[in-house]
Amino acid sequence: MKQENAVRRIGVMTSGGDAPGMNAAVRAVVRAAIFRGIEVVGIRRGYNGLINGDIVRLDEKSVAHVINRGGTILYTARSEEFMTEAGQQKAVATCKMLGLDGIVVIGGDGTFRGALALSKHGISVVGIPATIDNDIACSNYCIGFDTAANTAIECIDKLRDTMQSHERCSVVEVMGRHAGHLALYVGLAVGATAVLVPESKVSFDEDIIEKIRNARLNGFTHYMIVVAEGAASAMDVAKKIKDEICIEPRVTVLGHIQRGGTPTGRDRVTATRMGYRAVDILASGGTNRVVCLRNSVMTDIDIDEGLAEHKGIDTEEMTVLEAMTGV
Ligand code: F6P
Repeated sequence: MKQENAVRRIGVMTSGGDAPGMNAAVRAVVRAAIFRGIEVVGIRRGYNGLINGDIVRLDEKSVAHVINRGGTILYTARSEEFMTEAGQQKAVATCKMLGLDGIVVIGGDGTFRGALALSKHGISVVGIPATIDNDIACSNYCIGFDTAANTAIECIDKLRDTMQSHERCSVVEVMGRHAGHLALYVGLAVGATAVLVPESKVSFDEDIIEKIRNARLNGFTHYMIVVAEGAASAMDVAKKIKDEICIEPRVTVLGHIQRGGTPTGRDRVTATRMGYRAVDILASGGTNRVVCLRNSVMTDIDIDEGLAEHKGIDTEEMTVLEAMTGV
């Protein structure tokens, strides 16, 4: 265990897909560290930056006016090289050369796998969950989800106006290659006719056609189908609807719009609390930890334990959705 006063300089980086609130987390790490007299080095472009020594000194001023900004001022990347042993050795060498006593990594699943690798090479590391997919199992909440969900909800509300006027069917694809948390949440919030998530096997007739049919029998003349990108392609779903029941849906793929924009209050505050906690862990000698919110309590667990957990789709939300779309 390191002594508290042994931590003099730490690094902070963002990695993987960006998420609104990452900047607020970087700011919190910088401010919390400086508050304790610890220097902070920003590592740019994710693990590639750690391999290449792509760094920037961060002081309290360098993170002024970023709490409200989407994206990440440190840039981000998905690094192929870091997945190799040679890449990891270079990253470790950079940490040693810079005299880093620890690193805070902000990102999703792939970012934490990288953090685990660093930790196995003897680098002190703490992860902060940030992904619009909200699929880091050990934390009830990941930074960026609330902003992304609200962006999608706002877009779909606009779509509904025109779909209602023309009495049309809309098929909207939201992000989520492997996780349907965003699709389910957004579907509940917009009162979708049907929602498809990658976690459940899709029965086209039961999950879509029957829902549209029920809605029509109940007097509705416009329909909103929300599809997670990993569940099905919105284009395919629209084509099948046309072939099966002769209505011609309009397709909207929301795409990367969902990853940008001003973070909501929830994302800013969660990011700030998580950033503070991450520095606290490093300063007190902790390593290989991931900061997480569990039942509204800010805590942390071992990264490998966290990665071993699995976050299934919320069954209560599913049950509620079934009731809402079943009439
Ligand atoms: O960050 C998560 C995510 O937005 C997923 O929902 C999506 O499938 C993926 O990233 C898209 O990745 P890229 O930015 O490489 O297109």
